[in-house]
Amino acid sequence: MLETLRKRRSVRRFKQQPLVQEQIDALKEAVLRSPSSRAIQPWRFTFVQDAGLIAKLAHCKEHGSSFLEGAPLAVVVCGDESLSDVWVEDCAIAALIVHLTAVSLGLGGCWVQVRKRMHDAQTTSEEYVRGVLGISPPLRVLAIVAVGVPDRPPAGHPVESLDRGKIIG
Ligand SMILES: Cc1cc2nc3c(=O)[nH]c(=O)nc-3n(C[C@H](O)[C@H](O)[C@H](O)COP(=O)(O)O)c2cc1C
Repeated sequence: MLETLRKRRSVRRFKQQPLVQEQIDALKEAVLRSPSSRAIQPWRFTFVQDAGLIAKLAHCKEHGSSFLEGAPLAVVVCGDESLSDVWVEDCAIAALIVHLTAVSLGLGGCWVQVRKRMHDAQTTSEEYVRGVLGISPPLRVLAIVAVGVPDRPPAGHPVESLDRGKIIG
């Protein structure tokens, strides 16, 4: 795991190369192994590989989502807010597991924040994503994780760059 963390960066440029089924299956298995409060598992995932749908999802926000268009896979992380008061935490852990598993498979990825973001002046990013994918309440949309083969494998953060001051005790 530490080796995976040493390599991890947010990757936003991908090769035009589809993922193989074994990679998709590994990502699905990993995310279903996520911990959740009281083992409620309020999360639901949509693995989107359709290029047309991914292109629509790339417009979910005014900024910070357009790179999705070049990704062969978008994992939409949703949570059932009627099942758990900590669905946000559970879903954030699951989204990170998608990201880290991608890195461990030699792939790359990046989180696209959806919850509390706007598509335009009138429409939230959540409403927009709901419309694209037909997701209804009580499901909420937390984030989308883009996954693909990195255009250029990123270098992880150098150990000297880590801010040791964040560890306050
Ligand atoms: C909660 C969260 C939301 C994020 N939202 C976005 C986003 O909407 N668009 C984006 O391009 N990157 C997003 N990121 C990625 C961050 O920008 C990235 O992690 C940060 O710049 C540090 O870079 P690194 O991941 O390469 O270490 C998000 C990351 C987190 C954890």
